[in-house]
Amino acid sequence: MAVNKIAVLTSGGDAPGMNACIRAVFLAAQSAGIELIGYQHGYNGLINQEYFTITHKDIRNLIQRGGTMLFSARCEKFKHEQHRLTAAKHLTESGADGLIVIGGDGSFKGVESLQPLWDKPIVGVPGTIDNDVAGTDYTIGYHTAIQTAVESIDKVRDTADAFERIFIVDVMGREAGFIALNSAIAGGADHVILPETFDSAAGELLRILEKLKIRRKNNVNGSHIIVTTEQLWPGGLNILQESLQSETGIDTRILTLGHVQRGGSPVWQDRVLASKLGTYAVEMVLNDERACMAGIQDRYPKAVRISNTKESRKQLNEFSLSMLEKMALLG
Ligand code: ADP
Ligand code: F6P
Repeated sequence: MAVNKIAVLTSGGDAPGMNACIRAVFLAAQSAGIELIGYQHGYNGLINQEYFTITHKDIRNLIQRGGTMLFSARCEKFKHEQHRLTAAKHLTESGADGLIVIGGDGSFKGVESLQPLWDKPIVGVPGTIDNDVAGTDYTIGYHTAIQTAVESIDKVRDTADAFERIFIVDVMGREAGFIALNSAIAGGADHVILPETFDSAAGELLRILEKLKIRRKNNVNGSHIIVTTEQLWPGGLNILQESLQSETGIDTRILTLGHVQRGGSPVWQDRVLASKLGTYAVEMVLNDERACMAGIQDRYPKAVRISNTKESRKQLNEFSLSMLEKMALLG
């Protein structure tokens, strides 16, 4: 199959390193003599025919920039076949011989449902801070999000220490605890609440209170930092805050990190990962790999069927669990 033109888009939650990936796709395409077009606003761009030819000018000074030069978006319409048919028709009209979609697990569902409607390869690249994609060790943006969370924990600890407060630090990750896990370890937190280990609010509260009791008995002063994955505490974190405050009498505050974790200049790990996966995605298009993801496994890029990127959701391994227990992060 002759490949003269490739299309690329970014979809779903943006992630630091998406730009680095677009750059790598451009460079790899260019070295193969292939034109690159960029669709804007995620799948909306395919439906609305919003695209332009990416040139060298566009990728200058790009590798260090957060966000995505193609804009990202969610696109409810894309869940309906009639709109995906329109997207496929527009792709054909654009003359593209392949499509690269940089996004998370939701965007990959889009890849899977568009592929049967378009007779050219569609390749996914995992770009999400959540790291919740099976078949790849890491997703683009994950390392930067952890770095941001760790820097924030370091800072909040200073003020928490000064006032001897409890801080509940709420980090992103959707239904996966990877960001919480690693930012709690690297940030030296006192407790971590993860979807993978959470049993009930009552059980978790008991474990936190027990730990605070021991601290008091041992005359440990200063801050107490609890890191939690977003949207996990039943009824919201205010409930946990009130319980801790009333049970311990210690001033308890909530810090929701939110979207700052999605921004900022990508750390080197994300830049290198994005460069590897972007380059490899172009190779996959040339090899006519369809409905596959460019993943990274043990430092090497690997083509993984999109259908295998969700089957076995990544779980905490036994080592991580026992380490968390030994470091008393779980209670
Ligand atoms: P992410 O890719 O970061 O996980 P979302 O879950 O919001 O983000 O998905 C991004 C986009 O992918 C959605 O707005 C939609 O356009 C597309 N998408 C998600 N699920 C489906 C689906 N079941 N069928 C087709 N497209 C989907
Ligand atoms: O998937 C990335 C992510 O940042 C999640 O961690 C978070 O739950 C979600 O996106 C937030 O989405 P939105 O930007 O639509 O609020």
